[in-house]
Amino acid sequence: MTPRCHVPWQQMVIDANGTVNPCCYWSAYGNLNPACGNLNETPLLEIWNGPVYQNLRRNMARGDLVAAGCANCLALRQGNVMGLQFDPDVATETSPASPYAQNMHVLREEIARGATVLQAKPTVVSLTASYACNFRCIHCYQDAMRGLRIRRESAIEEVLALIPYLDQIIPGGGEPLLHPLWRKFLTRAEISVNPYLQLSTTTNASLVTDEVLAGLARFKRLALNVSLDGGTKAAFETVRVNGRWERVVANIDRMIELVRRKGPPSFVSVTMSVMKANLRDLPHLVEFAIRRGITFGLSPVISMPVDQSLTCFNDPVAETTGWREAIAEARRRHQQLGLEIRGAPPPGHTHFDVLEETIPWAIFQQPHYSVEGFVPSRLVRNCWKQFGRDVLVGFFPVVGRQLQECRYYAPLEGERYRVWLPEGEFALGFFPRNMYPSPLPSYRIRVSVAAGLGRLETIRLPMPGASAVKAVEKALRHVAKTALGHLLPDASKKALKRILVRP
Ligand SMILES: C[S@@+](CC[C@H](N)C(=O)[O-])C[C@H]1O[C@@H](n2cnc3c(N)ncnc32)[C@H](O)[C@@H]1O
Ligand code: SF4
Repeated sequence: MTPRCHVPWQQMVIDANGTVNPCCYWSAYGNLNPACGNLNETPLLEIWNGPVYQNLRRNMARGDLVAAGCANCLALRQGNVMGLQFDPDVATETSPASPYAQNMHVLREEIARGATVLQAKPTVVSLTASYACNFRCIHCYQDAMRGLRIRRESAIEEVLALIPYLDQIIPGGGEPLLHPLWRKFLTRAEISVNPYLQLSTTTNASLVTDEVLAGLARFKRLALNVSLDGGTKAAFETVRVNGRWERVVANIDRMIELVRRKGPPSFVSVTMSVMKANLRDLPHLVEFAIRRGITFGLSPVISMPVDQSLTCFNDPVAETTGWREAIAEARRRHQQLGLEIRGAPPPGHTHFDVLEETIPWAIFQQPHYSVEGFVPSRLVRNCWKQFGRDVLVGFFPVVGRQLQECRYYAPLEGERYRVWLPEGEFALGFFPRNMYPSPLPSYRIRVSVAAGLGRLETIRLPMPGASAVKAVEKALRHVAKTALGHLLPDASKKALKRILVRP
């Protein structure tokens, strides 16, 4: 059977911590699949045919998206099914002679029979050599990992050794155009070994110098995506901290000029990571793209940071005011400007649909009550010690005995927090804003309603494993009291005493 998505047979996405995934949706946007391996520990081609890739290929070939780990894939939900990535000009090589053509020939045959172990080398490789960046965007999930680097030096060489076979090389980041590896690669790498090579990247477009543009011009095909996150100076500069709107727009226009000279399939596109700070600016982003004749993508911010997430709220009514109208206006401008500029109405844009499906509209129908909670000072001090002063409290609704995802949040102000919650029970978690929220096993609150006002009560659950700890303590107490206790060396007696007088 033909695979639905060709990524498992083509692509490796390498992160700065060395992990390798088949794509950027594999363990993000609600997916939690295991990494295929780590380049700091395992050679690249061993990971390529390792157990995670094999399992993915086997299940994708059978059309079993659930077993493949792809049932929840954002790209598939957005209608973005990845076909085979290749340069059609390779057909001019009637008997494949170049390494690119020979590898593609083997790959096609292997895909056709749904092979799980491949002779063909990877053909689309994204490499994030570091998370270093000149911006500090308010939503960036990489903020906690800026210092990470790929540690095994030969790992980078293993990636660069694939150049003759690659359909696409994808410099990742951090900001790719900041990294010396990519600046050198763009301007000086020997790429004539592969005349088909496409350079694809997502950039903040702040560092597009003449030298970078000349480097980009050397590639046959370019796929340049700019994360813009706003269609106006105000929204852009609120989200993209350190970014200057005028400079980035001028750079986008220069990149558009370059890809126009190259012609299709080269393109420039813009994306918005849609979050609380910019959702109302969506119509402007749409207009920005359509007026320049380029495409746009929308990627909803969900799991973190919770204060920008479209699925987690402090005061749901206040935070979502104007959202429906902004999305409707963006859809209207997409249609109207598309018609005005291209002379025909464009097809609907699936990204609007996925954005609307992501927002939990149903919870806004429930009444929410303003409540105030207090956190024991010992727990507050622990949080400060672990995370610094900027701590958030997350609220995970308990439905039946199941915990749902973090749906509400509040900043921890001293020992207090304020949040709007519906009636019900919630598990609590404490974390800094640049970390994924997770609940504590033993800390819950209940919100009940009396005379139209919400009342918050704290529920303490026994810690998991508490009964096992108690049993061990009982056994130790017994040892301490018996003759056996007297036989212990002094150091052990002291240690035992310390354990047993623990509060
Ligand atoms: C991490 S950046 C790296 C490339 C480059 N620095 C840039 O901003 O385009 C890649 C993409 O991830 C997006 N991104 C960052 N944090 C995110 C989050 N918490 N949720 C969703 N997308 C996020 C960025 O907006 C950007 O489009
Ligand atoms: S430009 Fe990209 S990597 Fe840099 S902070 Fe913004 S989203 Fe993160």
